[in-house]
Amino acid sequence: MLVLGIESSCDETAAAILADGQIIRSSVVASQVLTHEKYGGVVPELASREHLRAIGPVVDEAFRQAGMTLHEVDAFAVTEGPGLIGSLLVGLVYGKALALSLNKPLVGVNHLEGHIHAVLLENKMDRAAGRPRPEARLPSVTLVVSGGHTSLFHVTSGPASVAASAMRFHYAQLGRTRDDAAGEAFDKVAKLLALGYPGGPVIDKLSCFGDPCAVDFGHIKMKGNPRDFSFSGIKTAVLYRVRGTDLAKEAEERRAWRQCVERPGIDDLRGHCSQATIDLVASFQHAVVEDLVERTLAAAEDCRVDNIFVSGGVACNSLLRQRFAEQSRGFQVFFPSPGLSTDNAAMIAAAGYYKLLAGERAGVTLTAHASLPLGTTPPSSLAI
Ligand code: KG4
Ligand code: ZN
Repeated sequence: MLVLGIESSCDETAAAILADGQIIRSSVVASQVLTHEKYGGVVPELASREHLRAIGPVVDEAFRQAGMTLHEVDAFAVTEGPGLIGSLLVGLVYGKALALSLNKPLVGVNHLEGHIHAVLLENKMDRAAGRPRPEARLPSVTLVVSGGHTSLFHVTSGPASVAASAMRFHYAQLGRTRDDAAGEAFDKVAKLLALGYPGGPVIDKLSCFGDPCAVDFGHIKMKGNPRDFSFSGIKTAVLYRVRGTDLAKEAEERRAWRQCVERPGIDDLRGHCSQATIDLVASFQHAVVEDLVERTLAAAEDCRVDNIFVSGGVACNSLLRQRFAEQSRGFQVFFPSPGLSTDNAAMIAAAGYYKLLAGERAGVTLTAHASLPLGTTPPSSLAI
């Protein structure tokens, strides 16, 4: 079965063609980073307009790379939420129009479900290519950690093996962020310190040169559900350490310098950062990563699973990968490759494939939802 996946929930316009839920025939991602970087974050109106410009060429390019025509696709999977409503609508309406005009099946996919399926897809591809990998099996505790989301899920399925077709997935949300997502905190700290956008990759690289214990941010305490996250406190703690100090002056100088250079390399940027700034971001990253790892491991122990999946843009973080490897406490921890961790459409096609096999079909009324909880939620949790 050939599925065309379309993803446009935030600032990436993406299309991918997936064969039989496991072979990526093509995957195209048009990033809007250049549009949003001068604002230090995604501007929703600009994002919708960029999606409108990009959606046609991106889908065309997915067909060109796959060496296929539109008529060869068997079904369509589109992200229906959660995300920016204007952005979501562009990809969803485009996919819906294609499916209806060709009279082919259509399914809507939850973006978070896509991130979870990125782990399974990567694992299937690795194993099919003969790379020696243990099988990513369900049940798992999955951490979806990105610029828009930080949530923990207990993921279970019908048949025991992920290789089985037509399997049904069940998602129970264990916890979620009550304020900023982890990636959002990275982006905001980078904006405060004039380090560039998106903040995660740059803080990741700069932190290699800093002391992660220079600033002790303490443990993040949660009242109520201990599986929930909160990163606004640590972000504000960084702000207080910067405001009115030499670090603020330094950040202003860096901001002025950055306006004269286009996308400086990490060595150049490092040359414009004091050791105190680099130590501060390294300590911030350390505190966020320790919290993500601790809460995920505790949830996996509670749920008595053997497998942990980690997905979403922040799953690219090198310290997060290192700490999960060091602390795994006997769990098998699976990450997608960086290209499948950040937003892409192959993961949407992968999640959609199982829905299609299970007979799910969306009709003309399929629409986008800015909020769209995935699976069951704990009684204390608010809807996403
Ligand atoms: O999954 P994604 O592409 O989009 C959302 O669904 O949000 O994630 C983007 C987020 C951004 O906040 C970015 O700063 C963060 O992922 N990110 C990272 C790294 N690479 C991307 N955060 C920390 N370390 C990284 N290496
Ligand atoms: Zn995402």
